[in-house]
Amino acid sequence: MKVVRGGTVVESHWSAPADLVIDDGRIVAVLAPDTEVDAAAEIIDATGKLVLPGGVDPHCHVGFTSGEFTSLDSYRECTTAAVFGGTTTIVDFAIPRPGQRPLDAAGIQRAKAVEGLCDSALHACVVEWDDTTADQLATLADAGIRTVKMFTTYAGETMANEHTILNTMQTTRDLGGMVVIHCESDAIVTDAQNLAAASAGVDASHMAQTRPELAETASVAAVLAIAESQRAPVYFVHQSTPAAVELVADARKRGLVAFTEAVAHHLILDDSAYRGAHPERFVCCPPLRSAETVAELGRHLFTGHITTIGSDHCCYDTAQKQLHRHDVRHMPNGLPGVETRLPVIFSHYVGGLGLSASRFVELTAAGPARTNGLYPRKGSLMPGADADIALWDPDLEWTVTVDALHMATDYTPYEGQRLRGKPVTVLVRGTVVVHDGELVDPTPRGRHVEAAPLDFGTIPALVDAG
Ligand code: URP
Ligand code: ZN
Ligand code: ZN
Repeated sequence: MKVVRGGTVVESHWSAPADLVIDDGRIVAVLAPDTEVDAAAEIIDATGKLVLPGGVDPHCHVGFTSGEFTSLDSYRECTTAAVFGGTTTIVDFAIPRPGQRPLDAAGIQRAKAVEGLCDSALHACVVEWDDTTADQLATLADAGIRTVKMFTTYAGETMANEHTILNTMQTTRDLGGMVVIHCESDAIVTDAQNLAAASAGVDASHMAQTRPELAETASVAAVLAIAESQRAPVYFVHQSTPAAVELVADARKRGLVAFTEAVAHHLILDDSAYRGAHPERFVCCPPLRSAETVAELGRHLFTGHITTIGSDHCCYDTAQKQLHRHDVRHMPNGLPGVETRLPVIFSHYVGGLGLSASRFVELTAAGPARTNGLYPRKGSLMPGADADIALWDPDLEWTVTVDALHMATDYTPYEGQRLRGKPVTVLVRGTVVVHDGELVDPTPRGRHVEAAPLDFGTIPALVDAG
């Protein structure tokens, strides 16, 4: 038995000084401070710390192949970085290679969970509907993989047409799951890329112009229309513009079960990065937006219109990013971020702008667990939950530098940023894995966590929408 004593427990709906009792990898009691416990219990001192449920990263690409590039991390490397950053569950994607069945892609990715230092779950992915897809999705749902990733862009790779989106939405709805979708109109992106190629150019410094905000809003509107026609729940990944977020919020007011995920880099960084020394390092889809858009997007953390914050972690290194830096159409998209997601959001939004610690937990742990069928086993510290815990020092000031991070790459988009707040001790199912910033137990203990049928009844965005 272990007792986490002396800290302030932060749940998504309340926070208070309390002690946590852990047994057999689970939370078994939440006690008033200094309640007497078994004398043999190991005490973990949390004085001065926030005691948070370990983060749940709903959007994490591990060893992801797209075109000629594969992102560089293994499950072991990604989850090591995750736990150092206070995240104890990642949700990865099983994205089929051309010609591969969604079921087979998921089987391969699922087998890697045991290499992890923490637990993981999976999104399946459908690119093209055929007469076997419904059965494959049913088999996946039985195995606890209920969320299905789709794309309206990346033609020739992972883009799905409306027929495929419609059928996948109907089927996942009936299986207690949900489509999670990357929305950018491929036609609008292609037009913008062609225009840029004929004028300013398509090198990395012009990334923002090649994927305009209109591409995102037009695609979100089209996908919402399909979802509403089917009364199918839908989750929009990495929404980068307030206009897109508001389209989803309006649909929710009309009764649709619809969610917005924002990702850390769209909430912190802006398109000035493309005018810096290493524009290629910031190439991602959707691209970084103007400072004004970033500020407006960030406001939706407070309005409640953003349901979750992910990382969209993609661990490419500078050499991979530089190879085609003169033509964004051929570059690997995505930024490393599984380790920095929680610290940058905490520092900028909790410390900097007054977001409550409970809302932080909702956005980064409880919310992602709810939308992925993992709550309350993950994302909560109530009795019965897995004892995945981050002891967070809210006052620790530190400077982000790639040398002190653990992601399998040679850069961080946040290099040099001064942050306040950091996880110092992290437990995975009751075992202390990181202590005082050191990896004290590198044992791979990861499990694939099966998603339960989705229960939308407790998600604040829906409750607030009435
Ligand atoms: O730029 C990004 N986001 N790359 C990863 C793949 C995706 O679209 O999520
Ligand atoms: Zn995407
Ligand atoms: Zn992604």
